[in-house]
Amino acid sequence: MRLTSLSLAALAASANAAPSAGCGQAIPPKYPSPGSSTDLKLPGSDRRYILYIPPNYDINTPAPVYFSFHGATKDMSEQEDLSQFSNPEFNQDGIALYPNSKNGYWLSNPKAETARPNDLDFTNDLLTHMEAKLCIDTSRVYSAGKSNGGGFTGVIACNATVGRRFAAFAAVNGAWYNTDDIPGVGPCQPAQREEGYPFLEFHGTTDTTAPIDGNDEASAKLPVIDILELWAENNGCGSHEPWVKNDTVFETPLVKHAVWNCGGRDGVVQHYREGENGHCWPSTVTNDDYESHPDQCPLGKYVFQRYRVHLRFLQRVSTPGLKGLGVPFTS
Ligand SMILES: *[C@@H]1O[C@H](CO)[C@@H](O)[C@H](O)[C@H]1NC(C)=O
Ligand SMILES: *[C@@H]1O[C@H](CO)[C@@H](O)[C@H](O)[C@H]1NC(C)=O
Repeated sequence: MRLTSLSLAALAASANAAPSAGCGQAIPPKYPSPGSSTDLKLPGSDRRYILYIPPNYDINTPAPVYFSFHGATKDMSEQEDLSQFSNPEFNQDGIALYPNSKNGYWLSNPKAETARPNDLDFTNDLLTHMEAKLCIDTSRVYSAGKSNGGGFTGVIACNATVGRRFAAFAAVNGAWYNTDDIPGVGPCQPAQREEGYPFLEFHGTTDTTAPIDGNDEASAKLPVIDILELWAENNGCGSHEPWVKNDTVFETPLVKHAVWNCGGRDGVVQHYREGENGHCWPSTVTNDDYESHPDQCPLGKYVFQRYRVHLRFLQRVSTPGLKGLGVPFTS
């Protein structure tokens, strides 16, 4: 069966929507018109972001929000291009936000600036601002990112104040630094909540930038499996189900998928391993990864459309009971 983003969004809308203060207000004049995006500055701050308002935006219908954080040395425009969250073909209903880092790095990367207001403060303030200006469903705010931006998605989840405002987290080739000694981050201490912390990670097995099994360099990166097991434990899950390879579903024999089922809620934690892929975002449309480091993209323009899977995970976790998440996604 082919599920369109639209039908899933309709499904997600059946959850109890929590309208933000911005509902009923006209779109501010500086903002993009529905179906487009624009570069903006957060008032009272020097931080910038790109805002995409989806074609179906309606001032009286609370919309989901997807944050998408760029990788180290990249920026918000490159992330918009990579993640395709502003592409109406994949996203008709969700507001997308692409925050820009201070100096090319996000908190947790040792090169990131840690002075307050830091990246967590910025994320928190940006979400508060958006909720005041646009009609947002505060129960459907999601965080995603690539590489350092993927690792930062985990930093958000680990912060009790900011993480509780996000319904689910997804990282692409996440760079998972040990944050225990990083000012303003520290050990992972998520707020307790009944819905738990749905968590998805995609990783190429031949990634040399953020190796799947971590590394021992001065700024050590942790093995991806340790992060997934941490979230499985936080969510009260057991071990993951057997790996699934299904080239009907994934359109390639090189992708394998693991799900963790947690206390009757299936697939709260999920992992996709892309054999023979590097630090690269597979896609059928060309993107910055292919252009800037084709050596990390041995799969070329592969048919596995990660952004579809990505969006779908985030949309489905907002449905009541998380039912059906353990079923591999259709393309
Ligand atoms: C979590 O983030 C908030 C908002 O940025 C910040 O005020 C707080 O200090 C952070 N908590 C920890 C334990 O770092
Ligand atoms: C692959 O997925 C399809 C569609 O869900 C299913 O019909 C088929 O049985 C699966 N194949 C395997 C080997 O799991």
